[in-house]
Amino acid sequence: MQIFHTAPQMRAWSRAQQKAGRRVGFVPTMGALHTGHTSLLDEAKRRSDTVVLSIFVNPTQFGPNEDFAKYPRTWEADLALAAAHGVEAIFHPTEDFYPPGYRTQVTVPGWKSVLEGDIRPDHFDGVTSVVTKLFHAVDPDVAVFGQKDAQQALLIRRMVRDLDFGLDLVVAPTVRESDGLALSSRNRYLSENDRRRALVLSRALNASVALWNGGCRNPSEIIAVGRAVLAQDPPDTLDYFTLLDPDSLAVLDADGARQNPCILVAAGRYGTTRLIDNAVLGAVW
Ligand code: PAJ
Repeated sequence: MQIFHTAPQMRAWSRAQQKAGRRVGFVPTMGALHTGHTSLLDEAKRRSDTVVLSIFVNPTQFGPNEDFAKYPRTWEADLALAAAHGVEAIFHPTEDFYPPGYRTQVTVPGWKSVLEGDIRPDHFDGVTSVVTKLFHAVDPDVAVFGQKDAQQALLIRRMVRDLDFGLDLVVAPTVRESDGLALSSRNRYLSENDRRRALVLSRALNASVALWNGGCRNPSEIIAVGRAVLAQDPPDTLDYFTLLDPDSLAVLDADGARQNPCILVAAGRYGTTRLIDNAVLGAVW
């Protein structure tokens, strides 16, 4: 497994692979790898000839009061998992990934401030900008993202289409614990009690999904059913539990008849740990 720390080194490797006729798959991460991340590596492997993993805790996507400094960093364990899943190259940029005087931003106006972006101002500008830099460094043929961060995946899909990145974007399903909790690098911060309480998020999503699967197409009813489940054991703060239009990023919470696919998105805080989860209604990706 090769490890590269600069964009020119990384790009030279990818270009050599492509010259040799190999399709390069790419999975960007911030490390602290778990089975959710490795499922993306496996998906990338199925769709390419060689897989690149990036590990970079990107400072620009964290707000001033967020957990950048204490975000988990588990380099040795990450290397072992990457090797076990057939990764051939790791891109691990150093702090100078952002050159002195860095100013440029890639932004998706409007969309960057919906729901997650409203609660985390500047977050999505940080994500779309760093993913652009990572795409330029790795130059992949296919990139795999997780549905777990559905809004992130939607913004990146928009950006890839709008700016002609010329790569295939794949969004892979959320990996969960057997009790329904979506895997997240931040789950390790949950107390035992909060971890148990957090199961209500997936239970609430499931209740809404069941209503949709039963034929209900009224957004306000679909949301109400999930919120009623949430109310049984509510998070300390509920940021949102609502429906999102994946094409316009409009919030759908009024009475109506929704025929096209949409995404149920949920976010709440347990103690100091913020969790997000979602479920797709229909074929979104
Ligand atoms: P990170 O949170 O490390 O996530 C990396 C990728 O793993 C993302 O595409 C995310 O959606 C996916 N992922 C996380 N938990 C998952 C789960 N339980 N099942 C399936 N996939 C899961 O997302 C980021 O990093 C950053 O914003 C990044 C895109 C790397 C830019 O810095």
